[in-house]
Amino acid sequence: QAQPQQQVDYVFKIVVIGDSAVGKTQLLGRFTRDEFRFDSKSTIGVEFQTRTLSIQNKLVKAQIWDTAGQERYRAVTSAYYRGALGAMLVYDITRRQSFDHAARWVEELRAHADSSMVVMLIGNKADLVGQRAVPAEDAAEFAEEQGLFFSEASALSGENVERAFLRLLEEIY
Ligand code: GTP
Repeated sequence: QAQPQQQVDYVFKIVVIGDSAVGKTQLLGRFTRDEFRFDSKSTIGVEFQTRTLSIQNKLVKAQIWDTAGQERYRAVTSAYYRGALGAMLVYDITRRQSFDHAARWVEELRAHADSSMVVMLIGNKADLVGQRAVPAEDAAEFAEEQGLFFSEASALSGENVERAFLRLLEEIY
């Protein structure tokens, strides 16, 4: 982990989107602090967290924005996406509806975000294998059609979280 006083070469803004309760905030906590909070509350408004890491010998500060999935808390759209170079579009592998809504989130991205934005589809809660409602193949197919990268992950176990964020940052780089 880089020290705060170090000189940063690049700042990459990344947005995390997806339905409420899919685990956006927890994924962010896992990536930036290696933490999972069992007492977390639904996000209201917008928050961001950062983590600085080195990519090909350059110091990159990932500034990752998190907003509420719930429509009524979503005061933002254009401002939220402005300047973002990447997006994590999250669904919950145990809730089919959260995956079915991914198409709507892609539409929102296309409407508000830069067309060169790198987007990664994340099937979160991969630890809940017994409750799976979305086959990984369906998600992989959707991602391919839409030109997204795809990974399943678990904020709870930490599986694939680091890898997915790094992949996104490297693709932006
Ligand atoms: P909003 O702020 O409402 O948009 O929700 P969110 O997408 O930020 O979801 P959040 O991170 O608050 O997580 C929602 C619930 O899912 C919480 O009860 C978490 O503990 C749980 N959760 C998040 N990630 C995982 C995971 O990887 N596995 C399991 N089993 N539970 C998870």
